Amino acid sequence: MKKIQVSLKENSYPILIGSGILNQLDMLLGKYQVNKNFLLIIDSNVRKNNPELLKNYIPSNKKKLNSYYLKPGEKSKSYIELNRIYSFLLNNNYGRDTTIIAIGGGVTGDLAGYAAATFMRGVQLIHIPTTLLAAVDSSIGGKTGINFAKKKNMIGAFYQPKFVLTDTELLKTLPKSELTSGFGEIVKYAFLSDEKFFSYVIANYLKIYEYDNEVMQKIIYDSASIKASVVSQDEKESGLRKILNLGHTFAHAFETMLNFRIKHGEAVDAGVIAALFLSNEIGLLSTNSLSDLLSLPLKMKIPSRLKGLNKEDLFNIMLHDKKNRNQQIKFVLLSGIGKIILDAEAGKKAVFNSLSQMESIL
Ligand SMILES: NC(=O)c1ccc[n+]([C@@H]2O[C@H](COP(=O)([O-])OP(=O)(O)OC[C@H]3O[C@@H](n4cnc5c(N)ncnc54)[C@H](O)[C@@H]3O)[C@@H](O)[C@H]2O)c1
Repeated sequence: MKKIQVSLKENSYPILIGSGILNQLDMLLGKYQVNKNFLLIIDSNVRKNNPELLKNYIPSNKKKLNSYYLKPGEKSKSYIELNRIYSFLLNNNYGRDTTIIAIGGGVTGDLAGYAAATFMRGVQLIHIPTTLLAAVDSSIGGKTGINFAKKKNMIGAFYQPKFVLTDTELLKTLPKSELTSGFGEIVKYAFLSDEKFFSYVIANYLKIYEYDNEVMQKIIYDSASIKASVVSQDEKESGLRKILNLGHTFAHAFETMLNFRIKHGEAVDAGVIAALFLSNEIGLLSTNSLSDLLSLPLKMKIPSRLKGLNKEDLFNIMLHDKKNRNQQIKFVLLSGIGKIILDAEAGKKAVFNSLSQMESIL
């Protein structure tokens, strides 16, 4: 089992990564001295795919244990679902000495995390990510929340878990489309990292689709290490953490325009492509480097639904991104692998051009 530490002023925690390590859950719950009134919040698809697996690893040293099954999909990241969880907790007499264990992808983690952050002013939380996207990204760093008024992640809190347990065995039931979605965030980490990891991802990404354990673990470990390091330096996104938003200004606009009929990782991959074009448009990235760097995000098939979206509307959505300041869109751009530029500003024309260039290669 490999360990990455997220080092924070308060509430530091480990990310534990390995194959078949779910059987150590009981030991870890003891080691990290978590409260023994457990509520497992589990994505229904995980239950369907692994009915026996979860039964085998449910904590034995417990005072109370219940499972709450979540309907799969982004719609579950809602106020209604959150209400149901609060009611479930209250109806089953859970108190402040509760531990919520989120077992699922980013939807489960974000919702269960926010429930943990807010129920009785905060109860303990453990993440067990079961999608590639959650393993490399959403289970780390403490962002929790729900969507509201058709807007993503409008209500939320920073709330850190006691630990994250990533068992790559759990990822083996993921449909290929979900691996592709996770790949979108991995592309982002390859750009935030260095030539070595970038080349490794290009050379090995196909092995993800073969569920190759060694490749899966290496890519998850390296991506999670980057996120852990960034979060350790800037927990609440006042500076450095913004680099994790590479591709996300465009991605959120694509998701909003398509009413979320696109997977998050696909939108991020397309967003990284648009960010590369924009970096070139405003003179941060040479045309030679651009074509080299595009080779990675173009490994992924970008949905053709992204073609022909109204640029004026996309621009307006970006203008209202909650990360902006002073009515200016703040982009995360780059001048090379690992050379990230924060709070970059770009004119409308440059943004439109980069969107057109992205469309031309879809
Ligand atoms: N908190 C953060 O820092 C952060 C970062 C990135 C994304 N997110 C959020 O994460 C969400 C996307 O997460 P996601 O891509 O994991 O989506 P998801 O949670 O919706 O899971 C994707 C699909 O995979 C299924 N699934 C999950 N585990 C499975 C398994 N082991 N086998 C078979 N099927 C399985 C789910 O039922 C679902 O249908 C978005 O809401 C996004 O906003 C949060």
